Amino acid sequence: MEARIHQFLLFLFICFWFSTAQNDDGTILRALKDSMDNTPPNWEDNPDPCSGWDGIRCRDSRVISITLASMGLTGTLSGDIGQLTELQILDLSYNQLTGSLTPRIGDLKKLTNLLLVDCDFTGPLPETLGNLENLVFMSLNLNRFSGSIPPSIGNISTLYWLDLADNQLTGSIPVSSGTTPGLDMLTNALHFHFGGNRISGAIPEQLFHSNMKLIHLLFENNQLTGTIPDTLGLVRTLEVVRLDRNALTGNVPSNINNLTGLFELFLSNNLLTGPVPDLTGLTSLNYLDLSNNTFDQSDVPSWFSTLQSLTTLNMNRTSLVGRLPRDLFRIPNLQNVDLSDNRLNGSLDLGSSQSNQLQQVNLQNNQIDVFQQSGQNSIVVILVGNPICMESGNTGAEFCSIPPNTDTPYSTQPNSCTPTSCRSGQISSPNCRCAYPYTGSLFFRAPSFSDLGNSAIYEALRSQLNDFYRSTQMPVDTVSLRDPSKTLDGYLRIIVQIFPFADNQRFNRTGLLDVGFSLSNQTFKPNNTFGTYFFQAANYDFTAGASGGNSSNTGVIIGSVVGGCVLVAILVLAGIYVLRKKDSAERTTHESSPFALWDENNGSGAVPQLKGTKAFSFEELSKYTNNFSEINNIGTGGYGMVYKGSLPNGQLVAIKRATRGSTQGGLEFKTEIELLSRVHHKNLVSLVGFCFDQGEQMLVYEFIVNGTVKDSLSGRSGFRLDWIRRLRIALGSAKGLQYLHDLADPPIIHRDVKTNNILLDERLVAKVADFGLSKSLGDANRTHVTTQVKGTMGYMDPEYYMTNQLTEKSDVYSFGVVLLELITARNPIEKGKYIVREVKEAMDRSKELYNLQDVLDPTIGLSTQLKGLERFVDIALRCVEETGDRRPTMSEVVKEIESIMEVAGLNPNAESASNSASYGYTNKGSEHPYTNDGLFAYSGDHFPAKLDPK
Ligand SMILES: *[C@@H]1O[C@H](CO)[C@@H](O)[C@H](O)[C@H]1NC(C)=O
Ligand SMILES: *[C@@H]1O[C@H](CO)[C@@H](O)[C@H](O)[C@H]1NC(C)=O
Ligand SMILES: *[C@@H]1O[C@H](CO)[C@@H](O)[C@H](O)[C@H]1NC(C)=O
Ligand SMILES: *[C@@H]1O[C@H](CO)[C@@H](O)[C@H](O)[C@H]1NC(C)=O
Ligand SMILES: *[C@@H]1O[C@H](CO)[C@@H](O)[C@H](O)[C@H]1NC(C)=O
Repeated sequence: MEARIHQFLLFLFICFWFSTAQNDDGTILRALKDSMDNTPPNWEDNPDPCSGWDGIRCRDSRVISITLASMGLTGTLSGDIGQLTELQILDLSYNQLTGSLTPRIGDLKKLTNLLLVDCDFTGPLPETLGNLENLVFMSLNLNRFSGSIPPSIGNISTLYWLDLADNQLTGSIPVSSGTTPGLDMLTNALHFHFGGNRISGAIPEQLFHSNMKLIHLLFENNQLTGTIPDTLGLVRTLEVVRLDRNALTGNVPSNINNLTGLFELFLSNNLLTGPVPDLTGLTSLNYLDLSNNTFDQSDVPSWFSTLQSLTTLNMNRTSLVGRLPRDLFRIPNLQNVDLSDNRLNGSLDLGSSQSNQLQQVNLQNNQIDVFQQSGQNSIVVILVGNPICMESGNTGAEFCSIPPNTDTPYSTQPNSCTPTSCRSGQISSPNCRCAYPYTGSLFFRAPSFSDLGNSAIYEALRSQLNDFYRSTQMPVDTVSLRDPSKTLDGYLRIIVQIFPFADNQRFNRTGLLDVGFSLSNQTFKPNNTFGTYFFQAANYDFTAGASGGNSSNTGVIIGSVVGGCVLVAILVLAGIYVLRKKDSAERTTHESSPFALWDENNGSGAVPQLKGTKAFSFEELSKYTNNFSEINNIGTGGYGMVYKGSLPNGQLVAIKRATRGSTQGGLEFKTEIELLSRVHHKNLVSLVGFCFDQGEQMLVYEFIVNGTVKDSLSGRSGFRLDWIRRLRIALGSAKGLQYLHDLADPPIIHRDVKTNNILLDERLVAKVADFGLSKSLGDANRTHVTTQVKGTMGYMDPEYYMTNQLTEKSDVYSFGVVLLELITARNPIEKGKYIVREVKEAMDRSKELYNLQDVLDPTIGLSTQLKGLERFVDIALRCVEETGDRRPTMSEVVKEIESIMEVAGLNPNAESASNSASYGYTNKGSEHPYTNDGLFAYSGDHFPAKLDPK
């Protein structure tokens, strides 16, 4: 008992020590944990993930690796993961995580291994994957990802392993063009595993070139069409090519012969035509499958007897004619020959010195009329469907029937010991010890052999596995293998049981996730006989057998005592923590930490999950704004004041301070800052921090120097917006909105898009501000939310106004109004006239500039050419269509504006206006952009105005 007290005190000390060290990654991991179930139980013990949470590794108290293979995780992977910016390894393989892969994954700039094998992820692969500039392994196989392969993956120049197999991917294989990246840029990749999807289109010629280092090209079982590009012959490093089970057409290119290192070639089940290809040069070839193509009728090729490494020759249904050369059967390692459904004729002579590995020669449905039996009798020859089997004397012959498969499937035998009978759930290991093994299947995508009955091969694999686990000091006692079989995809499947060390009846979590990682990360590498593999795990029960027998009661008692202590400790610590926080606050005030004082009972929910967003005390912000002085006040709105401030690091900020009485509920405020702190894009104003202290609610934003677009259009900002700048502003703000709709997780509808809410920075880059009224769509399957109508008159989507159903298309409508405002510089509603109707009435599509000269803003520069203005008007009017379904999406709008700019000879990717230097900025700074919008309540120009607290 005394020892336990000591432990308890030690534990207290450790907890205390960690809880006082600020650890942002801890907050983030706790947020991640909230979106998942079945996280390891020891994640509950201690608030600091770097203090031994299973599956978490840290350096300098930042998380660098998360490996949680086979933990039985369910739930989703939240966008919070993007905040773990030091993360290098993420392995969530063999779990049941659902939902889509968050685009914020692209924020993990240090990530080297992204392993999400065999989960249940759905939805598209985010384009942001291309931002993972240090990624080496990307294994996303065995999920239900859909959509096309993001071209941006081509930007990951470090990528070595790209496995997208066994998903539901569609579209074609992306290659680079002048402006977009593509997979042809992956010159360090050795593995392209794309099998088992629905990828379509032709294999682009450009995908292959002599700088590629690919060794495995696995495109099997897709919907690829077109011809095999002859550039394939340029990738001299290739060892395995699988293009089988597609709809490829045309001739096999002759320079495939240049691939002298090729071990395996699968072109079966396509629509290939022309002569049977000449493969004389493929001297390393082990496995060849050309079955079921529509080749021209061809003589038995000469290379049949020259490819001395062949183990397997599958060419059924390939229109071969003629007599089989006897030399074929002398190839030393030949195991299986399948040439059924051809027109081979004459006599079959296996010769007298065949390969001693030869198992089977299948020549069903040919024209063979003589069989000269000699040599080994153990070889199975099948001649069913040949003239020889129609002869009366042969009908009973062995070779005229299909032999039943009598092989006993391989299964690892006990290691010279007698298996014990184990209690239920446990299995007797090859070392005859009862234990709970980690069970799964190894799938080999291109084994070099076809003789599945050769147990020596499996024994070799087993000893490779055992050696591997011994050398890596993982807690594995031994491995057993059984039931090898071929799957429909032609993969070799072997069931594996991995047994824990003898004195552990089962794996603990650390042990198991190491073993899982060794297979998801391909750290275990079998030799070339087996080639590349993937592993699929069965769920592991960490508690199996734990509550049986006498010891269980004691266990439960000890467990609850310890648990109780932990609970007490946590409560005590929480108290100390809060007290400390209070102590460290300034003497005059008793509440400076919004964390310590976050009022959970006052309807505001748990402490907000803040990442990268700072909690400021009232004193701090007071200091940064000269006590909220008059000089620092840059605006007033219905909800309160906006102050300009300067942080100690020199950063300028705009602080929105709600007046007492117009503060919102704590919960609303919390939701708001949690949402805002997650949004990061160069065309969106970012939240720097907040203050929820001493009854104050303040939001701290980055300060944007050049004010609102509205101010610039009205001439108040002191610089002129020419046509080019307006195009750039349109594009920038469209991209900001596109990000909110398509990339934010959960998606965000702005709800108040207007020129007052688009700010311009020092380089006139547009930044969308104030998603204060934004609505998150939450569940990805929902396409709209029903809400009380909010927004600003003149910009408001009529459909939303009528139905209260808010969709992204409501923002598109408002953005259309913004586009019209950009060219006319008129308020949406001015003197009772509505800008949309004005433009429509004035325009005449048959005339130059659609006859809009009189409506256009004169300062746009009518003298200069307004290239693309007509298309600009067209897209604006499409945005303001009556019904949402006729409006484009924001990403369509972005594409269209980009295209308008390209046609006008502008680079849509350039950051700022090309000729910005020729204009002096004389920002008066009198009115600040943050002035007009109610973040905490709704100012006069909002609808409905009755919410105005004044
Ligand atoms: C590759 O194959 C083509 C066609 O068979 C041949 O003309 C060419 O010389 C070969 N290239 C190399 C580098 O061997
Ligand atoms: C032959 O290949 C075609 C095209 O892939 C496929 O549709 C057909 O089912 C295959 N036939 C056999 C017998 O496998
Ligand atoms: C012929 O080829 C197909 C496709 O590779 C294969 O599935 C089949 O087992 C082969 N043999 C026979 C006798 O059809
Ligand atoms: C888990 O198992 C490993 C290896 O058997 C052992 O070293 C470690 O102490 C175990 N961890 C716990 C928490 O029991
Ligand atoms: C992952 O596997 C690769 C080889 O496949 C190996 O080089 C690397 O060290 C492994 N990563 C870890 C963390 O073990």
